[in-house]
Amino acid sequence: MPIPLFAPYPEGRPRRLRRDGFIRNLVCEHHLSAHDLIDPVFIVEGTNQRQPVASMPGVFRLSIDHVLLRAQECVELGIPVMALFPVIDPALKTPDGREALRGEGLVPRTVRALKGAFPQLGVMVDVALDPYTSHGQDGLIDAQSHVLNDATVDVLVRQALVLADAGADIVAPSDMMDGRIKAIRQALEAHHFVDTRILAYSAKYASALYGPFRDAVGSAAQLGSADKKSYQMDPANTDEAMREVAMDIAEGADMVLVKPGLAYLDVVYRVKTTFRVPTFAYQVSGEYAMIEAAARQGWIDRDAVMLETLLSCKRAGADAVVSYFSLDAARLLAGVGSAL
Ligand code: PBG
Repeated sequence: MPIPLFAPYPEGRPRRLRRDGFIRNLVCEHHLSAHDLIDPVFIVEGTNQRQPVASMPGVFRLSIDHVLLRAQECVELGIPVMALFPVIDPALKTPDGREALRGEGLVPRTVRALKGAFPQLGVMVDVALDPYTSHGQDGLIDAQSHVLNDATVDVLVRQALVLADAGADIVAPSDMMDGRIKAIRQALEAHHFVDTRILAYSAKYASALYGPFRDAVGSAAQLGSADKKSYQMDPANTDEAMREVAMDIAEGADMVLVKPGLAYLDVVYRVKTTFRVPTFAYQVSGEYAMIEAAARQGWIDRDAVMLETLLSCKRAGADAVVSYFSLDAARLLAGVGSAL
C-alpha cells in the first residue's frame, strides 16, 4: 500500500505549491543548466566555412576556425563538452573507411586545435566508420553487404587510439558492434591512455530520426536504401537495452547513452534507475528538425519547447543531453536564470 503523503481535498490542495513563482521555484525538483549540455558540431575542411544544413535550420558545417569561435562560446556559457562529427570529402570515402585512421585527418586535427586553444573544454569524438565508408555503414561489410562485427571492432579500436592520441577526452563508440567497449578499453589501457573516457552509445535505436544528421555529414547518399537494423536496436525493445547497457558497463564504459531522446525517455529512466551510472540522452537531428520546423510555421514557441524537451530528458534521469540546441539553451538559461 502506498503511504498517503497528503491530506485529501480540501485540506490537501496541490495548487498551493503552484500559485506563485517563489513557491514554484522552491519546490522545483529538476533543473537544467549549461553544465548538462553537450554541443554537437559538424566539421568540414577549409577556412571560413559556415555551410547551412538544409534540414537543420540554424545548424552549420564549420571549418576549424569557426569551430574555435564556437568553442569560445561554449567555454563562456559553461557548456562542458563539444562533440565532433566530420563531413568527409566523398573522394576520401572507401569500403574500409581507412580515412578514419589517419592521424592527420580532419577530426584529429580539429581535436588538437581545440585542446591547444581551450584545454578546459572537453572534446568528445564519435567512434564509428559511417562518415568514412563509401557504403555509409558504421562498419566493414561482406560481399552480401552484411556489416561484420569482429573485423569492424578491430578498425574501431585503431580509430579510437588515433583519436585518443590526438587528445580526445571522451571517445564515444556509436556503432553498436558487440564487444567494442572491451576491445577499446583494453587498447586504451595498453597504450597508456588511462584517462580517456568511454561514453558508450549503449542503447542506440535504428531510428528514422537520424535523417537530417545523415544529410549533414553526407552519409545519406552513400547509404541509399540500406538500413542499420542489423546492428542498431529495434524501437520495440527495452529489455534488450538493459542487456546492452549491462554489457557495456562490464566491458569498461564510464558513461552510457540512450539515443534518440524524447521518444525513448522510458529507456533513459529505466537505465538510470537500474544501473545508477552516468546516463546521457541524445536529442537527435530529427528531434531538432521537428521543433525548428513547427516553430518556423509559428505553431509552437521554439524556446519554450526547446527548454521543456531538454528538461524532460533530465527528469527522466539523464545526467546530460547531447543537443543541437545546446548553445541557444545555455544562452537562454544565462539570460533569465531559471527559465523553467
Ligand atoms: C553515426 C551517428 C549517427 C548519429 C550520431 N552518430 C547517425 C546514424 O547512426 O546513422 C545521429 C545523430 C543525429 O541524428 O543527430 N554513427
